[in-house]
Amino acid sequence: MARIVGGIATSHVPAIGRAIAKHQEDEPYWKPWFDGFQPVRRWLAEVRPDVAVVLYNDHGLNFFLDKMPTFAVGAAAEYRNADEGWGIPTLPPFAGHPALSWHLIEQLVGDAFDITSCQEMLVDHAFTLPLALLWPAAGGPCPVRTVPVCINTVQFPLPSARRCWDLGQAIGRAVQAWPGDERVVIVGSGGLSHQLDGPRAGFMNPVFDRRFMASLIDDPTWATQYTVPQLVELAGTQGVELLMWLAMRGALHGGVRQVHANYHIPISNTAAGLLALAPA
Ligand code: DHB
Ligand code: FE
Repeated sequence: MARIVGGIATSHVPAIGRAIAKHQEDEPYWKPWFDGFQPVRRWLAEVRPDVAVVLYNDHGLNFFLDKMPTFAVGAAAEYRNADEGWGIPTLPPFAGHPALSWHLIEQLVGDAFDITSCQEMLVDHAFTLPLALLWPAAGGPCPVRTVPVCINTVQFPLPSARRCWDLGQAIGRAVQAWPGDERVVIVGSGGLSHQLDGPRAGFMNPVFDRRFMASLIDDPTWATQYTVPQLVELAGTQGVELLMWLAMRGALHGGVRQVHANYHIPISNTAAGLLALAPA
């Protein structure tokens, strides 16, 4: 039986990729952000996941506005990174786990989630940066196999917070039903509060972000009280990416303990957060 060893949620600001490439981790602007990953990397070295199921939103690379699945799961042997427009260095291909992907797709469709299955999939910064932060590979390949799960937060209508929670719960059940002995970590990529455009560009909401982060420990469905327009109001148009954090937490089922949390304002235009959770 596969085992979920924990869940991690992190922001995915593209500038992080440039900072990694330029070795700026210890510069004053970046240090408070990168330092947050040290305890999480130490914990990962202890729990030794083989596979990362990465919940993220594609930003117009693999899916554009003409075709936008609400939920999509990758089922490829490898996932190539490409530049969707931020100009950050691309990373080497990420290994997939097609058998586990197809198992997830079958279980999720059986659970009434209408999944788009993708046997080819380019991955953008929202997929690559959390993996680069969690497993700094110094130009080499990422050491864990991956299953990408895309949740649309780019083109309205978006799935509700409740639906994303339910998807996470279904992913958790599906992983636990996988007969292999893989150790799986669930990664949620996005948020926290940020708005990149319009009259509220630069908007952040630390009071809401901190309440949301805390809720994921012991009141994990707290955010499902909000509609998507309310979440946009509270966290910004792009801050609605926090749905990935909610889905990640849903996959963990039961109680959790906090391994580490970090919250730092700003990275670029984003209130940047990191949260690592282990089963209680
Ligand atoms: C920024 C944040 C994001 O989540 C993203 O996808 C792109 C840019 C930013 O703050 O610059
Ligand atoms: Fe984003």
